[in-house]
Amino acid sequence: MIELERLLRSQGFGSRADCRALIRSGSVSVAGQPCADPFARFEAEGLRFAVDGVAWLYRRFAYLALHKPAGHECSQRPLHHPSVYSLLPDPLIKRGVQAVGRLDEDTTGLLVLTDDGQFIHRLSSPKKAVPKVYEVTTRHVVDASQVGALLSGVVLHDDPEPVAALDCTLLGERCLRLTVTQGRYHLVKRMLAAAGNRVEALHRTSIGGFSLPASLEVGRWMWLEAAELALLAADKGGSF
Ligand code: URA
Repeated sequence: MIELERLLRSQGFGSRADCRALIRSGSVSVAGQPCADPFARFEAEGLRFAVDGVAWLYRRFAYLALHKPAGHECSQRPLHHPSVYSLLPDPLIKRGVQAVGRLDEDTTGLLVLTDDGQFIHRLSSPKKAVPKVYEVTTRHVVDASQVGALLSGVVLHDDPEPVAALDCTLLGERCLRLTVTQGRYHLVKRMLAAAGNRVEALHRTSIGGFSLPASLEVGRWMWLEAAELALLAADKGGSF
């Protein structure tokens, strides 16, 4: 059991004093009933509450998928473009969700965010080698030798060890689906450049066994539940 004031604090509604004031102002209801007592105690697990009419479910950790639009930076302090964090409600930012790996400002597609540090660590660990799938639009026609180079490994300037795509499928003359297991800076752009082409547009469609749902519109986010989290953590062998 947890006091309502502490529960709201854990869910990103500000300091304990902020949460107390919010509750006393009559903005909060719990399981459909108004509650103005900051010290009322509830079982947190599975608790549904509303703040200013917006419904929430208590979550120990927040896990989200965002359909990242182009023209957004994955930084909390963006330099040239709005931040992806501006697309999330304030409580999620206040509870400290962070992107699991970054996408470039001009890359679109699946971005996962969470406030579970261990999950971030597991999903980004090089040992885990979680596959990430990108649809790549190229400037030049992709030829068989470029596909061959991407599959057998290309050398990037900051590492003598070649980087190979796990999979590379031609989708069109200037379009391919590329699967990589690393999460390095500008990785796909640098791999395509090393193979003698150039990325014109980049879209991430999946991480592990989880694909960006077609129903998730550009700029919108959704909660991820246990089944989706298990899919996300599936490694290249398909196990968890
Ligand atoms: N590789 C890139 O070059 N950019 C991204 O945003 C993601 C992967």
